[in-house]
Amino acid sequence: MSIEIVDDSSLPLTHQSRQRTTADALLIPVIPRTQFDFDVAIVGLGYVGLPTALSLHAAGLRVLGVDVSERRLAVIRSGEADLLESDRDRLETAMAGDGFQITGDTYRLGDAAAVIICVPTPIDEHLTPDLEILASACTMVVDAAVPGQLLMLTSTTYPGCTRDLLVTPLLVRGLTAGKDIFVSFSPERIDPGNDRYAHEDVPRVVGGATPACQAAGAALLGRYARNIHGVSSLEVAEMSKLLENTFRAVNIALANEFAEACLALGLSVIEVINAAATKPYGFMPFFPGAGVGGHCIPCDPHYLLWQLRKAHVDAPVIEHAMSEIAGRPRRVLERVRETLADQGKPLRGSRVLVVGISYKPNVADLRESPALEILSMLADQGADVGFHDPFFGAVRLRNGSELTATVDPDAFGADLVVLHTDHDNVDWEWLSPEVLVLDTTYRRTDLPRRVQL
Ligand SMILES: NC(=O)c1ccc[n+]([C@@H]2O[C@H](COP(=O)([O-])OP(=O)(O)OC[C@H]3O[C@@H](n4cnc5c(N)ncnc54)[C@H](O)[C@@H]3O)[C@@H](O)[C@H]2O)c1
Repeated sequence: MSIEIVDDSSLPLTHQSRQRTTADALLIPVIPRTQFDFDVAIVGLGYVGLPTALSLHAAGLRVLGVDVSERRLAVIRSGEADLLESDRDRLETAMAGDGFQITGDTYRLGDAAAVIICVPTPIDEHLTPDLEILASACTMVVDAAVPGQLLMLTSTTYPGCTRDLLVTPLLVRGLTAGKDIFVSFSPERIDPGNDRYAHEDVPRVVGGATPACQAAGAALLGRYARNIHGVSSLEVAEMSKLLENTFRAVNIALANEFAEACLALGLSVIEVINAAATKPYGFMPFFPGAGVGGHCIPCDPHYLLWQLRKAHVDAPVIEHAMSEIAGRPRRVLERVRETLADQGKPLRGSRVLVVGISYKPNVADLRESPALEILSMLADQGADVGFHDPFFGAVRLRNGSELTATVDPDAFGADLVVLHTDHDNVDWEWLSPEVLVLDTTYRRTDLPRRVQL
């Protein structure tokens, strides 16, 4: 593919142009470029960015994937990335054919007509949004921005973030959103490991800095997504994602509370929830568990709470839900202690095996998994802990020590087994009928000796 340049002065910022001062940048003539090597560049090829890149490529777009992690690029090139089978096939086709490249060379961002940013937006140990990665990715994109480009943010973040990190810095560079360049926000809704919904079938919400920006964003995502829901601003789009995930957090906290209530009343909470879920309207089932993990539920509501604190607005329902969720691993610890005590055993010195440590079934994803906190607390309290999970060979505990996976759970000789995540690939044949299992999933009624969380 060759680059056709309309005017040299509108070339993407090159290595040396990145050294320009803001004052110099303001002198860059605003001449829109009309020919690009790629239709879209994806910044961040993680759980979200890679499937997005593959969907856009499958829709016929020329895609440049950009990631700063050489390790991640190597994993993708080797075909080892954790992907759905359908995306694995797409990756193979994309890597073997035309119109798909992955690179660590961030200076190539100006070679794409549109840039989609999907980098992590974590929280720190004080539950405060850690915007360092996002801010640095946005700075990189703004520095490389070319007149005529569409810049789209898809990372989950606080309302006003796209304006703060893209629209305003672009203006400093002399690029006005809606006139010289297009800026939009569209939250990602991908659910890693879930093949029930094709990426194309999940509607996308799109907001823009101006109506023209919104239209440009909708046109890009409309190339692969069958349903686009336009909203009136960047902030509405940003806030809609926070509502989606806060809604889940609050309902999971409620399900946990119902689990406690059902336990006290001698009822199966799963049976109760499944019964309520037969109502065809006004009810959506959420299930209790050992806590929440992944990149979304434990983090995203804190982006909202953080911003509300700045505005001196209370959100007690959300605050309570987040603290209830965060307290679940401690609840598991207490149940382990109680269950062992019922058998006349102290926690200190007892052998406790945690089965399944990913944050959800059938994925090799440990991010924010409650299991890490549970294992760490058990070890801190003197239990002899182990874990069994076919997805992991070892994990690092909070105290810095490494815990190697128990390959033969029978040989571990557990005083108590804690079922944390119920992977399909765990074979329970090893479980002897006399071993007690603390079931944090509330679902495994088939286990011979079981207590519920
Ligand atoms: N994982 C999910 O289930 C999910 C679902 C919906 C939305 N989201 C949101 O999507 C965003 C991305 O999440 P993810 O799960 O894909 O993260 P991830 O950690 O899987 O991947 C992010 C990738 O970005 C790369 N990266 C970091 N800084 C970069 C930079 N400056 N330039 C290029 N690449 C860079 C990292 O190397 C990594 O490969 C987050 O805001 C998250 O909240 C995630």
